[in-house]
Amino acid sequence: MTKAADSHPVQIDRFFAGPGARGDQWENLVELAEAWTQDPAGRAKFEAALAEMAVTEGFYAYPGLQLMTALRDHAEADDAHAAATLARRIIRGVLTRSYRQNTGEWEVHDEGERVTPDVLPPTLGRAETHRPYFEVLIVTGAPAARWPTLGTEWRRLRRPLDSFIYEPVFVGSFEDAFCATMLNPDLAAVVIHEGFVFKSQHNLPILRMLEEAKDQHETSADSALHLAQVVKRVRPELDLYLLSNGRVEEIAGNPKANVLRRVFYAVEELLELHLAILEGVQARYDTPFFNNLKKYAQRPIGTFHALPIARGKSVFKSDWIRDMGEFYGPTLFLAESSATTGGLDSLLEPTGNIKKAQDMAARAFGADRVFFVTNGTSTSNKMAVQALLAPGDIAIVDRNCHKSHHYGMVLAGAQPLYVEAFPMTEYSMYGAVPLRSIKQALLNLKADGRLHRAKMVDLTNCTFDGHIYNTRRVMEECLAIKPDLIFLWDEAWFGFARFSPFLRPRTAMGAANAIEAWLHDPKSVTAYEKQQTELGANPTEETLLKTRLIPDPRKVKLRVYQTHSTHKSMSALRQGSMLLVKDVEFHSVEQQFKEAVFTHASTSPNQQLIASLEVARRQMELEGYGLVHNAIDIALAIRQAVAQHPLISKYFHMLGADKMVPAVYRESGFTDYLDPKSNWATAHRSLQDDEFCLDPTRMTLVCGSAGFDGTQFKGMLSDRYNIQLNKTSRNSVLLQSNINNTRSDVAHLIRVLVEISNEIDQRLAEGGANVRKTFDARVKSLMTDVPDLPNFSHFHNAFRADAGKRTNEGDIRGGFYAAYDAAGCEYIRLADPEIDRRLKEGPDLVSASFVIPYPPGFPIMVPGQVITQETIDFMRKLDVKEIHGYDAAEGLKLVRAEALAKRMDKPAKRAA
Ligand SMILES: Cc1ncc(COP(=O)(O)O)c(C=O)c1O
Repeated sequence: MTKAADSHPVQIDRFFAGPGARGDQWENLVELAEAWTQDPAGRAKFEAALAEMAVTEGFYAYPGLQLMTALRDHAEADDAHAAATLARRIIRGVLTRSYRQNTGEWEVHDEGERVTPDVLPPTLGRAETHRPYFEVLIVTGAPAARWPTLGTEWRRLRRPLDSFIYEPVFVGSFEDAFCATMLNPDLAAVVIHEGFVFKSQHNLPILRMLEEAKDQHETSADSALHLAQVVKRVRPELDLYLLSNGRVEEIAGNPKANVLRRVFYAVEELLELHLAILEGVQARYDTPFFNNLKKYAQRPIGTFHALPIARGKSVFKSDWIRDMGEFYGPTLFLAESSATTGGLDSLLEPTGNIKKAQDMAARAFGADRVFFVTNGTSTSNKMAVQALLAPGDIAIVDRNCHKSHHYGMVLAGAQPLYVEAFPMTEYSMYGAVPLRSIKQALLNLKADGRLHRAKMVDLTNCTFDGHIYNTRRVMEECLAIKPDLIFLWDEAWFGFARFSPFLRPRTAMGAANAIEAWLHDPKSVTAYEKQQTELGANPTEETLLKTRLIPDPRKVKLRVYQTHSTHKSMSALRQGSMLLVKDVEFHSVEQQFKEAVFTHASTSPNQQLIASLEVARRQMELEGYGLVHNAIDIALAIRQAVAQHPLISKYFHMLGADKMVPAVYRESGFTDYLDPKSNWATAHRSLQDDEFCLDPTRMTLVCGSAGFDGTQFKGMLSDRYNIQLNKTSRNSVLLQSNINNTRSDVAHLIRVLVEISNEIDQRLAEGGANVRKTFDARVKSLMTDVPDLPNFSHFHNAFRADAGKRTNEGDIRGGFYAAYDAAGCEYIRLADPEIDRRLKEGPDLVSASFVIPYPPGFPIMVPGQVITQETIDFMRKLDVKEIHGYDAAEGLKLVRAEALAKRMDKPAKRAA
């Protein structure tokens, strides 16, 4: 180690830094090497940087010991040019990943034949396919000096027949194994030899700050199994193998060993281990439906059923539509089929490869079962609501949830009990629903004697704008009030989160798995009983609201559903969605689910979509960890660049966690990812404890301060700069980073923001006082004259014949069908003074339809709802063009007072 490294022990647990930081470190080293070629004094800096990097570089196979030693040797030989050349070659290898296919890249003297680096999509550069590459972490007690020899032994096991190729990476301690697992995205398997030490010789302040680290001891008897469990918690997709020196039978029988794929007796069977590793990766690589579809496309099949486009003959033979065939290529048509035989399967009643594909997705996403859905999460939500709720059931629903939930309630005849998210009025958007409101709704139902009617809590996680619930806490506290509640978590935007150890515990399935483990822990009953004693026989409502309630593990029935738009955050084609199930009572609703599938799924589901769902699953299981880490890294880079750029930050800013989540919901005190005090441990604590967290990949960029409303700014970025954004609000736009983004995208965005800021700067500098005044007025109007967000008012009594006293649920289906009676409805224009008169003098204005402005995208009116002054004020101030359910020329569609009176009469007559 160099002196520099001695004086500042290298910290290797900066997991927050992300993969981009590695490229930056290499870039920095290259710059130092180049500077040294100009000035001999630069050598010390180069050596210090190299020594600092060497520690974490040991967690990756490439560049490996040989090249790192060569760099050090060049430094020792005072050969700046050789060091710079090699460092440049290494960074190219790291960034283009060419070392995966080109053995020459690993050599000190690069004389091997060069393969085109993997920077272009394969179809653009090369014809031949190559074997996918991964790395295997080997945790061993063998001295580091032996690792190169061991590495050679591993490489000798390779055979041309192998479908994949891998490189071993060696570490010697528990802590290093943990850091390597966190840092190296290419790992696909971990081999744990018994006999490693616990403590890393490196500096790990953040890791050692964590609660979890506290119960770890240096000489724990079952440290290998303990390590296996910790690794599995961080990266459940990895295959784990344990090599024991003697106690194989005992280990294999230990319940903790269920996280291992196989246990081997250490001194034998290295080839078996090699084959097991390949087989384990193959099990994730396998895509049974897609494989069959590919085979199907290659067969000479004559079709005498519908779908003339299948096989492409109607396309390629046509003078008039051949361009479509040329555009998409023949494979698309060869793989089109309406058959469910011949190697394919039926999505509606899967028994073959679609069933297998769904089971594999369940494994990947931590569920018991999965339904593939080819019509978006809009359909997944409606399926779940229909299958789980019957007419009259009460569901606690976030009023701002996606419209599919509201429509689902209409279809099911369930009664939504709307709960409100906290408002973020200054940005014209909503946050998420505070747990207190949800508990209050349940306690109100209890007080009304109607708790038995409450079947479901239906929430959006994360919200469009990135608010993540504390899913575990919400479910536990609700289950403490009603132990058999069903949870439907709409994770349309959040499917990718499964593959981040930071975000996973906050997903529906992450939390459901943690609760399931807790239910089986004998300590849980004790914790529950202790709290019951503390609460006493009759705790007040306020006490129950304030206390973090513990459910009775003996009574809980864990029933968790999650939907996600695979297409929104993973590599599925548009409309690809999944419905995930973890429900101990699933057997009791299985038939209902079949009915829901039959109701909503097309009988002609698209084959490509099904295949893409499967392929998306494969990708996430094999490289999702790195891709998601990269998406987070990109988001942090964008946030940082916007905050730090002197010109951009004059007009634009990104809302940090502290702005998106009010302090009362950030109990850990976490402020923002960009706060210099934030590190992996503080973020981890926030994710563990806080009521709400911010998904860093969802970035709200305030553009009102630059004089643009959201829609205008979105249009400008798209028309002038080819940048597509997510949603907008009055004064902001939402940017989303995902597994597709690169640092070039960041550069493009930042350059564009600089250009726009420059234009504003120039316009203001050259325009004089009047231009400045107009600009300031526009900014003020966008940033301060914002309309109050209307809360849900209440259903009209005509739709509350069967409702409780303390809760606001209503018969939304009745409201919806009231609109079908044309004579019972009327229209009044928004500007008509009649609206104001009716608001003052009555009769009530009752909406006959959903009215959903985009943005903000939540229904400001639902059928049967009484319209209040605040809703009218909001609508009158709205400056958006797209309002679903409202035609400005006709006006608001209302249920006439007479029709309402007739409805109210009916139950009375029936009762008589
Ligand atoms: C929260 C939420 N749920 C569901 C959906 C519908 O998903 P899909 O577009 O896959 O139908 C959306 C769409 O934007 C959404 O934001």
